[in-house]
Amino acid sequence: MARIRIGPADLLEAGGPVPVLAGGHHLILVRDAGRIVAAERACPHEGADLALGHCVRGRLRCPRHRASFDLRDGSVSPGWSFRPLRLFPVEEAPDGLWLGLD
Ligand code: FES
Repeated sequence: MARIRIGPADLLEAGGPVPVLAGGHHLILVRDAGRIVAAERACPHEGADLALGHCVRGRLRCPRHRASFDLRDGSVSPGWSFRPLRLFPVEEAPDGLWLGLD
């Protein structure tokens, strides 16, 4: 697994989602229950910018059609039939935030 530095440890202090470009991937970072999650930036439904979405109680809500994604596994809310949101592991270290890519 490749490990890519995505920013300083305090990158999410102002809240989220925060858009980042890492390893050629457009991603967002969100904080959920004390951990940081990276996800693809484009909604898997019709490509809305999830950096404009909202994260509440473990779910990321898309700003366009308001489907929401579980930040543990990327699964979409009931009633939708598209693929899950891709999630990536983030390591919080003293020298910054690191993304794990396959
Ligand atoms: S574009 Fe995100 S739910 Fe439709």
